[in-house]
Amino acid sequence: MSSKILVLPGDGIGVEVADQAIRVIDKLNELGLDATYEKELVGGASYDANGEPLTSEVLEKAKQSDAILLGAVGGSKWDDVERSKRPEAGLLGLRKELELFANLRPALVFEALASASTLKDEVVSNLDIMIVRELTGGVYFGQPRGIEDTSDGKKAVDTQVYYDYEIDRIARVAFDLARKRNNKVTSVEKANVMETGVLWRQVVKDTHQDFSDVQLENMLADNCAMQLVRNPKQFDVIVTDNLFGDLLSDCAAMLTGSLGMLPSASLGAENNGKRHGLFEPVHGSAPDIAGQDKANPIATILSLSMMLKYNLNQSELSDKVESAVQKVLSEGFRTGDIYTSENQTLVSCSKMGDLIIERI
Ligand code: IPM
Ligand code: MN
Repeated sequence: MSSKILVLPGDGIGVEVADQAIRVIDKLNELGLDATYEKELVGGASYDANGEPLTSEVLEKAKQSDAILLGAVGGSKWDDVERSKRPEAGLLGLRKELELFANLRPALVFEALASASTLKDEVVSNLDIMIVRELTGGVYFGQPRGIEDTSDGKKAVDTQVYYDYEIDRIARVAFDLARKRNNKVTSVEKANVMETGVLWRQVVKDTHQDFSDVQLENMLADNCAMQLVRNPKQFDVIVTDNLFGDLLSDCAAMLTGSLGMLPSASLGAENNGKRHGLFEPVHGSAPDIAGQDKANPIATILSLSMMLKYNLNQSELSDKVESAVQKVLSEGFRTGDIYTSENQTLVSCSKMGDLIIERI
């Protein structure tokens, strides 16, 4: 039976990078992938067309699909729109409604790109970290929240909430992944100041009893930020909450030389052998270069590759896509964000798509 992919290009460069990923799907269909796809609006594009960043029709299609590929959402154009209608609310709605609680963000240094990092070669070469970010809880969704007038002036409230089951299930994802990698999990919180941190540490410790073959270490989030820049190769899998995961994954991403290279997968719970999955680049919508055919499509193409591996059961095709990307890079082709020397060939977004497709 053919797989149904819902493509949500979103805003800014999301549109052009998603186009390249779609071309890759076409190519893979020639090689035996049996997938159909449909494009829909999300984020600011959906707000402009429908007055909402995620319509119920699109949400329904998302629920019915085998996997979702998303470009990027957001842009200053929608800065004055009320929060519940902002582009980001579309993405957060998808995460919450599909219960995509496990966000996998690999930070991998491509050999050809080690010199594009702002850190020294020896600090980042061969780096391979997996950040596992809790995605449907914490301060992103906790109640109460809001801004109100009080006798002491305006007061803003956000609430960090975690239930033990939420911590347990994300910890299991991390331990499972570590078993397929280098067998080490670093659990990150701020147990020194936050109650959620205390519970987080306790639950991870309990869950670890089912994975005692995996090495577990606890680390405070501020220290983790520092260690990521000081000696990132000490990490294998990092598991952390929604907000710390947001910050630490951007930091880890930059170690690799470019945000334009990093894919991500957001996965739901397994249900009859199937799980919802949303695959998207870690980078944003980059409105400053949108529509100029300058963006780097690699993160989105690698997100498609994660989809092949995690949701469509197509590891071989996934490997093919990854080797094609490696090949293009080792041959010296670069989009603007990863162009570092005159020996390289600067190419556009669509040309990068052509080159990868030719090598699949
Ligand atoms: C991310 C983004 C989102 C987040 C925004 C766009 C809501 O920064 O996916 O990391 O904060 O989770
Ligand atoms: Mn982020």
